[in-house]
Amino acid sequence: MWGGRFSEPPSEALWRFTVDHSDRRLLQDDIAGSLAHVAMLGEVGILGGDDVEAISNGLRSIGTEAAGGTFEFTDSDEDVHSAVERRLFELIGEPAGRLHTGRSRNDQIALDIRLYLRRTLRERTHDLVALASLTADLSDRVGDMVVPAYTHLQQAQPIPLGRHLMAYGWMALRDAGRFADLGGRLDVSPLGAGAVAGSGLPITPAITAAKLGFSRTFDNSIDAVGSRDLVAEYAFCCAQAMTHLSRLAEDVVLWSTSEFGWVTLDDSYSTGSSALPQKKNPDIAELARGKSAAVAADVATLLGIQKGTPLAYNRDLQEDKRAVFHADDTLAGALPALGGMLDTAQFHPPEPADETVALDVAEALVVRGVPFREAHEAIGRLVSSLQDVGLGDATAEQLAAAHPLLTPADGLTVGESARRRPSVAEEASRLRSACEALAA
Ligand code: ARG
Repeated sequence: MWGGRFSEPPSEALWRFTVDHSDRRLLQDDIAGSLAHVAMLGEVGILGGDDVEAISNGLRSIGTEAAGGTFEFTDSDEDVHSAVERRLFELIGEPAGRLHTGRSRNDQIALDIRLYLRRTLRERTHDLVALASLTADLSDRVGDMVVPAYTHLQQAQPIPLGRHLMAYGWMALRDAGRFADLGGRLDVSPLGAGAVAGSGLPITPAITAAKLGFSRTFDNSIDAVGSRDLVAEYAFCCAQAMTHLSRLAEDVVLWSTSEFGWVTLDDSYSTGSSALPQKKNPDIAELARGKSAAVAADVATLLGIQKGTPLAYNRDLQEDKRAVFHADDTLAGALPALGGMLDTAQFHPPEPADETVALDVAEALVVRGVPFREAHEAIGRLVSSLQDVGLGDATAEQLAAAHPLLTPADGLTVGESARRRPSVAEEASRLRSACEALAA
């Protein structure tokens, strides 16, 4: 492909160090880009009809091989682009040499990665919306189960379990929205930017952009081939989503302990111990938590390969694919595993501690005109004096001793406290509408 200038073949060490097979998954995107490119070359009169037809037919045959899994890469293929061109030569001979007219692998790879991410972005958006909507369903399923909401991992206030679950749903929905927003920025075709400053031939980027379903073409050829911010942003979208999943995973790990006893995971979503017969482990959750670290590192990789590279294309940028594919693959694997784990789990949380209604009792005094600080102090003293007795079991004397305006009628159950908060059923319906709006 570039042998003309060289008098010796590449050394084995160079080849092994520089060739990266991870771009092979761009095969179909590369073919799609080449089909659009050759059609454009024909439309503007750079190539004759016979060449366009021969090249297009050859590319389509390669596409069939790729789809059938019979396309063979060889050791001499430097990357996916050279593999396709090599195969095209094998299939159609001389006209294959005209395909790369007015194009460079630099705008080609910038295009391929966009085509690829545009597709996976839709899948990830869909998967995240599905998880968000699952939390709304789970909320309905767990009905009026009440759990403590925590701060500092200390029981804080009673809440419906559905609210805790849907907190993760809203996070997943924002993660989905982040992918969708990125879709708008990715919707720009870089094809036609060439190596860095385009071509003197009358190539027409708008034609290839339209054929490939992009709304716009690049404004600056240097930016088009030299930038990887959108790839980094894609990895960030994955990393933030994985980080949310990691927090969810940590909650599930805690909830499934015998100490918490909130949840029993289904056998089909749990793992066993080779040594301890009684064990049932939440490995999906642990791995989601563990794998999120490497996805965060992918973002650092993608920022790192950009930061010191002078404009425009540098081979450093080849490293973007390994990082972003790893980020996306990890998220793509985690979402159905965690989703299935939640969907099949049995929830049976114990009631929150009685004293989690302390704020409600203090607020009963506030309603009677007591300053909040005074009420806070009185209920704090009451809770500490009760020791083994719950707030609900405090006697009239104990209440009156804490504050003269307190009466047994101020005691309320954790369930009553949770029901004073906004309706969880309404929240589930709002979450579902938001999911539908994003999916549309
Ligand atoms: N394999 C390269 C990459 O992934 C494609 C672009 C190569 N361009 C070049 N001038 N070597 O970034």
